[in-house]
Amino acid sequence: MTLPSGGAFYKEYPKSCDPEDYWGQVGRTVNGKPVPQEQIDLIVAAVCQGLDLGQNDSLLDLCCGNGALTTYFFSRCRGGLGVDFSDCLIDVANSRFKRRESESYRCQDVLEFVRQEENPQRFSKALCYGSFQYLSPPASLEVLALLRHRFKDVGLLFIGNLPDKDRLSRFYADKPYVPGIENQADSPIGIWRTTGEICELAAAAGWKCSISRMQDRFYGSGYRYDALLVPA
Ligand SMILES: C[S@@+](CC[C@H](N)C(=O)[O-])C[C@H]1O[C@@H](n2cnc3c(N)ncnc32)[C@H](O)[C@@H]1O
Repeated sequence: MTLPSGGAFYKEYPKSCDPEDYWGQVGRTVNGKPVPQEQIDLIVAAVCQGLDLGQNDSLLDLCCGNGALTTYFFSRCRGGLGVDFSDCLIDVANSRFKRRESESYRCQDVLEFVRQEENPQRFSKALCYGSFQYLSPPASLEVLALLRHRFKDVGLLFIGNLPDKDRLSRFYADKPYVPGIENQADSPIGIWRTTGEICELAAAAGWKCSISRMQDRFYGSGYRYDALLVPA
């Protein structure tokens, strides 16, 4: 049985984008324009530092999108696998961003992947950037628990760009708010959680969680945070 999960928007939407608008395809835009390179550099620095990514690491990137971000991380380690359920984004990843034999991209739902992967011990670090909020609550818990108990060599898991429920009212101050939208995985921003809620979810799956925030000049810093998980 596959539990329902959100993010299905990204199965079709990228087809309407310019084939070379890699940031647009994964929704990394401000006022409809792709975010500038300095913003990408901030993300790459935060993830590489959080994961302490090094040449001996093999990285699992869950919900990797089109690989435009993943490729920065693969270039800092031995390579690894990106998984995403959008076939058009995975096509872009394979055609534009796969650089070496040790890097691969696979089209699959991440819950199915963590249930079925035959060689989970090949990964030393894992990442889920800008995407975890699109998993349904039962899927979120199961993904974290399977990463903890099947992917035994994953020593750090970075869950990035989570929407902060404590900053929901600030975000919606100048936008129309639909009550309850913060609990919907299949809404445009997905599920908003407080830092306490993500730490509780992590703990229930066997992880210890620490929270960090991007510097003020990061475009999402006003309402997002990152979570770094280590085995409890
Ligand atoms: C905002 S994009 C982020 C992509 C990439 N991590 C990045 O930061 O550039 C969200 C991604 O999550 C993927 N996604 C959402 N739910 C998924 C699921 N259950 N299994 C696999 N991919 C999923 C979507 O297809 C989409 O590529």
